Amino acid sequence: MQPQMTAQIGNFTFKHLFLNASGVYCRTKQNLDDLLDNQATGGIVTKSATLRSRKGNPNPRYHSILNGAGSINSMGLPNYGLQYYLDYLLSKSFDKPTILSVAGTSFDENIELLKQIQDSDYQGMTELNLSCPNVVGKPQIAYDFETTNKILTEVFKFFKKPIGVKLPPYFDLNHFDQIAKILNQFPLDHVNSINSVGNGLWIDIETESVVIKPKKGFGGIGGKMVLPTGLANVRALRERLKPSIKMIGTGGITSGKDVFAYLLCGADLVSVGTQLGIESPKIFNRLESELAAIMVEKGYTSVNEFRGKLKSLE
Ligand code: SIN
Repeated sequence: MQPQMTAQIGNFTFKHLFLNASGVYCRTKQNLDDLLDNQATGGIVTKSATLRSRKGNPNPRYHSILNGAGSINSMGLPNYGLQYYLDYLLSKSFDKPTILSVAGTSFDENIELLKQIQDSDYQGMTELNLSCPNVVGKPQIAYDFETTNKILTEVFKFFKKPIGVKLPPYFDLNHFDQIAKILNQFPLDHVNSINSVGNGLWIDIETESVVIKPKKGFGGIGGKMVLPTGLANVRALRERLKPSIKMIGTGGITSGKDVFAYLLCGADLVSVGTQLGIESPKIFNRLESELAAIMVEKGYTSVNEFRGKLKSLE
């Protein structure tokens, strides 16, 4: 019998554990339809929308590194604008949960984006991306704890729909304490961790040059090489966040083993970016069968039997 591999966030039931990481396979309506058509897709996340459409940063702005073990990107939030994604999400009924990701490039834009969602007929989940490293001249908001607190305080004065946040990776235990203390004050339904590891650099030794054009080559690092950072962030946040805030684990997933590890750390769902770009949505079917095989071998019949139960060494 197939083990039970589902998740619940608020009122939303995910019959499969796999989402796309925002940015990958989700910029166009066709991308989102392709994700939905795939059997093991648990739900979809839109490209982070701004109020108006953006072309994003100049090309080249994405480069695969270390033979596919990683990626560097500085996309700069290319998207078709909030209305495009709202129109799509309101155009039909969905049999899988939807997450509308938004990323304002200023305090006011974040508030306006969420006001428009609040005033719309959209009833799915929303995710406020506080972690894009690639907008020239703009900091990653969630590294500024005071501003993060200020934005969320303002948001929850008017936003009454299900909402979570996407965070950048943290690297200091004190920072996990600080961000969790802020997030725990609010009725967030989920935290998605991690966004790319911001401002990495990759160099082509032959040409003695950087490999992407924006920001003199600095960009967010993703792919297999960020797996330990993603696991650490999910674990550290799960230990600090109140139980009503569910977790989406993102970063470095290429196999069912990686998914199993994220679940042990306490992830409710996982999302896949770099490797989804390499393999297309059918990667979710492979990850699901690999996860099922591990569970069967270990004698687990449900993910609830081991989710969050990572052991420490005595
Ligand atoms: C980008 O569009 O630059 C990536 C989005 C993100 O990292 O949040």
